[in-house]
Amino acid sequence: MTRPLVIAPSILAADFARFGEEVRAIDAAGADWIHVDVMDGHFVPNISFGPEVVRAIRPATTKPLDVHLMIAPADPYLAAFAEAGADRLTVHVEAGPHLHRSLQTINALGKKAGVALNPGTSETTIAHVLDLVDLVLVMSVNPGFGGQAFIPAAVEKIERIKAMIGGRDIRIEVDGGITPETAPLAVAAGADALVAGSAVFKGGAEVYAGHVEAIRRAGEAARGEWA
Ligand code: DX5
Ligand code: ZN
Repeated sequence: MTRPLVIAPSILAADFARFGEEVRAIDAAGADWIHVDVMDGHFVPNISFGPEVVRAIRPATTKPLDVHLMIAPADPYLAAFAEAGADRLTVHVEAGPHLHRSLQTINALGKKAGVALNPGTSETTIAHVLDLVDLVLVMSVNPGFGGQAFIPAAVEKIERIKAMIGGRDIRIEVDGGITPETAPLAVAAGADALVAGSAVFKGGAEVYAGHVEAIRRAGEAARGEWA
């Protein structure tokens, strides 16, 4: 299935003191979605932000807020993120024993549901939830920090997930170490949504559009015969 390539800049790499301006700038720079990395200092070794930050940036963009929950447990917070203005909520396979229930809850809240896999987690763990999700997020770094190097093994995992998805209307998003150099690897394997933090939020707002465009062009050029 051909879908437009989505570029989702991660505000984890934005200037936290100027979130509203940064979100407006990345929207104007051509972001398709705004990726919001939520970290709890427990599931991952870093703390970022919670539902009130989602609420605060919501008026700054009409683009979908793509909220990546790196928290455990996730279930107690799903309604709060939905109510704060998230459009898409992605939970990790590794975050708890009731993945199916978490995804049912996201769907019941009327939001797009995603499931994320850490680099060390097999794609077989999502076989029984594919009918509940709109997106599979393949982590190409170990979650917790921006600015890490792309893990090449993510490429084969994306290929296997693409085969598992078959004709279902499910996006594959890749997150971590995405640059104009690595984007083609992910896209050629089957990814159609690219998260990028440090490769986009650098050099000042006036050059963000160039960074978004460079990743988009590199990704689109790698779209094979399946696209
Ligand atoms: C990692 C986050 C990523 C990260 C991406 O825990 O989920 O979204 O911020 O940042 P870069 O593009 O710098 O790897
Ligand atoms: Zn993320």
